[in-house]
Amino acid sequence: MKDRAVKMMKSMLLLLILLAVVSGRRTHLLKGLPATSTVEENSAAGVSVYTFNVTVSPLSSEGVAILPTIVNSNPLTEAFDIESIGDLEYRVVTTGNPVLDYETMPKSFDLLIFVEDTTGRTDLNTLTIQVTDKNERPVFQGNMAIQTVMIYVLEGTPPEHIYQVDAADPENAELKYSLLPAPVPFLVLESGAIFSTKEFDYEKDPHCYFLNITVTDPDGLSSTRTVNVNIININDERPYFTTKQRFYRIPEEQSPGTVVANITAKDPDDEDSPSRLFYSIQSSDRYFSINPSTGVLQVTGRIDRDALPLRLHPNISLIVRVEDSPSGGHASETEITIIIDDINDNPPECNPSTFRKEANENTTAGMFLLDLNYCKDIDVDSTNNQFNFTGLSGFGSNNFALESTVSGRLVMTESIDLENPANLGIEVYSLTVRVQDIACPNYSNMIYIYIRIKPVNEFFPVFSNLSYEFNVPEIIKVGSSIGRVNARDKDWPPSVITYSIVAGGGTRDYTNIFWISPTKGDVKILARLDYETTQKHILTVQASDQEKTTTASVTVNVLEVNDEEPVCSPNFYSLQIPVSLAVGTNINGFRIQCQDRDSDPRSFRYFINEGNMNNHFTFSPSAGSNTSQLILASRFDYETSLDKNWIYRLHVYITDDNLLPARDKITHLIKTGTVTLSIRVIPNPTTVITTTPGFTVVTKRENLYSESAWYVPFVITLGSLLLLGLLGYLGFLLAMWVNTRCPPAGKADGVSLINAPGMYLFSIFNTSQQDLVYDSV
Ligand SMILES: *[C@@H]1O[C@H](CO)[C@@H](O)[C@H](O)[C@H]1NC(C)=O
Ligand SMILES: *[C@@H]1O[C@H](CO)[C@@H](O)[C@H](O)[C@H]1NC(C)=O
Ligand SMILES: *[C@@H]1O[C@H](CO)[C@@H](O)[C@H](O)[C@H]1NC(C)=O
Repeated sequence: MKDRAVKMMKSMLLLLILLAVVSGRRTHLLKGLPATSTVEENSAAGVSVYTFNVTVSPLSSEGVAILPTIVNSNPLTEAFDIESIGDLEYRVVTTGNPVLDYETMPKSFDLLIFVEDTTGRTDLNTLTIQVTDKNERPVFQGNMAIQTVMIYVLEGTPPEHIYQVDAADPENAELKYSLLPAPVPFLVLESGAIFSTKEFDYEKDPHCYFLNITVTDPDGLSSTRTVNVNIININDERPYFTTKQRFYRIPEEQSPGTVVANITAKDPDDEDSPSRLFYSIQSSDRYFSINPSTGVLQVTGRIDRDALPLRLHPNISLIVRVEDSPSGGHASETEITIIIDDINDNPPECNPSTFRKEANENTTAGMFLLDLNYCKDIDVDSTNNQFNFTGLSGFGSNNFALESTVSGRLVMTESIDLENPANLGIEVYSLTVRVQDIACPNYSNMIYIYIRIKPVNEFFPVFSNLSYEFNVPEIIKVGSSIGRVNARDKDWPPSVITYSIVAGGGTRDYTNIFWISPTKGDVKILARLDYETTQKHILTVQASDQEKTTTASVTVNVLEVNDEEPVCSPNFYSLQIPVSLAVGTNINGFRIQCQDRDSDPRSFRYFINEGNMNNHFTFSPSAGSNTSQLILASRFDYETSLDKNWIYRLHVYITDDNLLPARDKITHLIKTGTVTLSIRVIPNPTTVITTTPGFTVVTKRENLYSESAWYVPFVITLGSLLLLGLLGYLGFLLAMWVNTRCPPAGKADGVSLINAPGMYLFSIFNTSQQDLVYDSV
């Protein structure tokens, strides 16, 4: 601006000078002017428009004082300037500022050129410059005029119109569009419309195209602008697996979390950036899971190769799916197979694992006893399920051996004799055998074996004596034990010996007099022995250990004992005697005669046990003979009422104990015979009292027996009779009372009465059975 103002000032100044000069002296210095020249529009700076000379007068050869100057222009412009080209020759050139434009600027400029030479002469002339039109290149309009246009095209879009180029020609001529480089999938139409010619694939095609659009006018002038076409990526591709491995091998029984496979995939849409993908297992699977974001396949469940279904099908197939969006994106699936390898994780199991076996003692060495191989190892792989039998142990295991470690057959190596002190008491051998995996880590189990050595009955029973002799009194009670036999054998464990009588146990009258306790060997008698019949029994007893028997003889000597009672006659007798019979008379000449099979005739003793009231009767001799007479001992006296009975019933006891020492009497080796005598006293037919002649009682004593003894039985007998009578009466009363008082169904109560005056005790026990027990005190 400032510059421009300065120029204007300068021009004004020049104009003023010019006016002054013109008003002064004016000569024709500018040769060739006025003139008209042309200049093409758009000429660059320095383009010569017109050339002229300054004519200097010969007087002033010094030259010009003021160079030719454009002092004014109509219209005003600075588009021209004057420059010297030497020898007073000048030309008008374009300044290029502004550039002349035919279409927008005035088409003619009048330049007023002033010059003054050194002599002071001036000249002012006009140069008319006509701007000539020149064909100009077309121009782009709109955005394309000011920038590189960016066009975005979605991949996968069908060919379409993507942009309209806007260009114009200054001359308004018809324009042509063209496009470079040639092999691009775009075309531009006459109208300037740009079309894509294909469907773009971001993943295959270039992502960016630079199209040079050239617009050309009919004269061939052209302009070119670049259009940048960018292909926009869209999610149109399915992800694919980059993991090529489809088969994996893992051992069974891996802990949860163990990584099996690292499945990776790629989404072509994501190009080089890491893909965000989602993994899943399609088939339902209880063994594995996949990390949805990393694709790492892990063990989640127990994988047991030895159990169904893996036992049969050790390959697990999984459909792995990968998606590029958690919902409704593109997905791919692949099948991977995991092969489960067996490991040795099971010990051999035996069923049964406990064995019981019996073997006879003295079984020959080397005999097969047991097959222990009921074992199985469920590990699938044959390298993992082999096992062997080892480690036979247990007390006494040296008697046994395993035939081989493979077979599991147990054999005996020693014959076991139970009677051998080394083996004594061992009947059952408890052994263990280990059944062990051959493969590491040698899992094992125990087998328990109980071998019972069955005793064999090898030895015969042996009686403690070769024969036995028992001395037995003949009166021994039935059921008594008379002796014992005993036998043993050497078998271990000790045999149970059973005894029996195999011969000689009976007599003509009894088939079995003897009995032997089968377990104890006690010999007992079942019937009475009678020395008088058999003095000696010879039995054969047998001892049996159930298989083997031995016999021994037992001699039973029957010892003589006073076991026979005196037998006297007459046994019963009735006598009548006159009341006046003289004392000392052998009544009616009666005598009893006794005999005893096992007693001396002199051992008898006679006494009247009962009925001898007032002791009227006695036997003489009272002892020492096998015969004795009945003697009247005292006279009867009915007058003074001393005697009242007219009938006597005498119980005479005859014992055979007379000669026995006192010691034996206690052992009851006394036998008593009885004789019953009935004596009726006949009263005198007349009342005449005859004088009784004096008499002498002759008592013949043949041994030292006390005479007074016979009173005692007499008194007891008499008293007993009286008591019996009373007892009977009371019993009758009681029976009546019981009948009237007791209910039919008895009660378990007890009643006891004491009848004080009669000194009798009646007890009723256990009336439920209506039993009455009478007890006399
Ligand atoms: C899975 O594979 C990828 C790439 O190969 C790796 O970066 C990553 O660490 C792997 N993951 C595992 C758990 O191995
Ligand atoms: C039995 O198994 C054990 C342990 O694996 C091994 O040491 C031994 O050699 C095996 N014996 C035989 C006869 O195979
Ligand atoms: C009584 O004993 C004598 C020998 O003392 C004998 O001769 C006689 O036969 C015996 N009488 C009777 C009945 O046994």
